[in-house]
Amino acid sequence: MKITILVDDRAGRAGLRSEHGLALWIEAGGRNILFDTGQGGVLENNARELGVDLETTGSVVLSHGHYDHTGGLARVLRRAPGAHVYGHPSLVLPRYSVQAGVARSIAMPVPALAALQRLPETRLHWLQQPFQLSDRIGLSGPIPRATDYEDSGGSFCLDPGGRHPDPLDDDLALWLRSPNGLVVCVGCSHAGVVNTLRHVRRLNQGQKIRAVIGGFHLGNAGPRRLQRTIAALGQLEPDRVVPCHCTGDTAIDALRRALGKRVAPGTAGMTLQF
Ligand SMILES: [Fe+2]
Ligand SMILES: [Fe+2]
Repeated sequence: MKITILVDDRAGRAGLRSEHGLALWIEAGGRNILFDTGQGGVLENNARELGVDLETTGSVVLSHGHYDHTGGLARVLRRAPGAHVYGHPSLVLPRYSVQAGVARSIAMPVPALAALQRLPETRLHWLQQPFQLSDRIGLSGPIPRATDYEDSGGSFCLDPGGRHPDPLDDDLALWLRSPNGLVVCVGCSHAGVVNTLRHVRRLNQGQKIRAVIGGFHLGNAGPRRLQRTIAALGQLEPDRVVPCHCTGDTAIDALRRALGKRVAPGTAGMTLQF
């Protein structure tokens, strides 16, 4: 199986473009899966540069509804009109980031919502439970919030007045079973990266975590959360940790200090083979 980072906050080489967002191209077991779409501004350019044919997309998995993960949906479905889309029903909720009393919409953009609405029922899969795309590829469904040191990672609200915190119930991860353990793709880890990995292990009879790739959303994490997250990650003994997107530089530095060469920060253009 092969995973290519199509969209990230950083680009790995000339010709590739960056934006705040995430998209992973997964080729596994004869399937082509797009995990998140970025905002939509750089996806097609980077796919072309990397030799990825978006027209062969069989499934689009949306990790959660934020604009930086769903904004490219309309473009992908225009290129791959037969693709199936998977996500939690809360994807489509209006949602905001509220800081110092100022609200900014961070919901799924209107063209993406319209593209979802145009999909026939047979190709739109609303998930409120764990789900398997095949015997080796699955989606976590909603992730239980079990740790006492993880939270959604920001001032996310369902209303612009900031009265109703957004539980990000839609947050989900994708897992792949490889011969040497589980490879886990995360969007922003709003459920907490430790909660996510432990949940995925439970869904797979306690198999080892081989790799985790995606946004860990630790930019606002205080020292306690950071330290406990890194300790828990260390206990899971992944061979490869690929922090991308919204992980945050401080957290990436701390991960590298603790886990050494197993940590390889992701950029657009990076490919991982398992
Ligand atoms: Fe994000
Ligand atoms: Fe997010």
